[in-house]
Amino acid sequence: MRLTRIAGTGHYVPERIVTNHDLAGMMDTSDEWIRERTGIVERRFASADQGSTAMGVEAARAAMAEAGWEPADVQFVIFATVSPDMYFPGDGVLLQKELGLGTTGALDVRNQCTGFLYGLSVADAYVRMGMYDRVLVVGAECQSSGLRLDDEGRDMAVLFGDGGGAACLEVTDGEDGSALIWHQLHSDGRFAEELCIRKPGAINRPWLTAEMIEDRSSAPFMNGREVFRNAVKRFPEVINEVLAEKGFTKDQVDMVIPHQANLRITEAVRKRLELPEEKVFSNIEKYGNTTAASIPIALSELVDSGTVERGHLLCLAAFGSGFTWAASLLRY
Ligand code: ACO
Repeated sequence: MRLTRIAGTGHYVPERIVTNHDLAGMMDTSDEWIRERTGIVERRFASADQGSTAMGVEAARAAMAEAGWEPADVQFVIFATVSPDMYFPGDGVLLQKELGLGTTGALDVRNQCTGFLYGLSVADAYVRMGMYDRVLVVGAECQSSGLRLDDEGRDMAVLFGDGGGAACLEVTDGEDGSALIWHQLHSDGRFAEELCIRKPGAINRPWLTAEMIEDRSSAPFMNGREVFRNAVKRFPEVINEVLAEKGFTKDQVDMVIPHQANLRITEAVRKRLELPEEKVFSNIEKYGNTTAASIPIALSELVDSGTVERGHLLCLAAFGSGFTWAASLLRY
């Protein structure tokens, strides 16, 4: 039987720490406001010459070192990001060049906070069908360059941070029990404009104008209450769904690793699922919300600290712009 296992994980966060107090010096906000509503204490901002590809490359190198992979071992690349270095081509080919992967195929995934899980599901399908034996999945974000660090942009600016995470996926016969088990993927495009960057976009003629910068329509927009309302419903729903699909119960799960959207969302989800604090991971206090990078960063940290060990049953879950939501169940 062909199944897929995680052979290695890695993550990278930029050196520059930006605290809530630092942000309070740039806009009308406070450490207290941010902590109380989001749980975030600090986040990392990339240096001027770093983009999402560079952070993805560092994370990929760490994951490949853990897996014992050389560049020649990578047969396919999947790169999830909402903050690509260029409008096109995507970060996948840029990472492919940086890592010296020859002519290896590279797919970019644009599924926002759920991008890493959508990518994981594609990689799993490719491996199971026999198309590839080893796929590199990366999630990386450079959010800081798109945030408006002023009073008008404060609702979004306090939430997001930069970083990258990666996982090396390889074929297994499943005999040691270590394998991806199942994925549930959802979307509801009726909510597309509740969390988005509307412009620039090719629907406009021309697609980019100076006005879009001046009138702030190119700034990220979020209807925070709508996001909260849907997130606390969809996270538990999709976690229960992926467990039920394969006959598991939530008590069997060693760790739920949610997309780090907001500590209040994570807490509400944990309470709805009636899970103990130690079984729902959070590191948002250190990194803020890193969108497609948050799950692979969390997974890599948990492996590095020894909290997640081989044989543990993990449930990865995400909700985000689209709206999209997803869960992956795996035996690490
Ligand atoms: N600092 C200080 N005050 C602020 C800030 C800020 N950074 N941002 C907004 N405010 C002000 C508002 O202007 C408003 O002022 P007003 O009363 O004078 O109009 C006041 O704070 C309260 O604003 P609300 O929007 O009512 O605040 P609320 O308590 O609903 O909290 C929040 C807003 C934190 C966004 C909340 O709706 C929430 O948690 N939503 C979930 C969104 C989220 O976490 N998204 C994560 C990213 S998306 C994802 O990953 C899925």
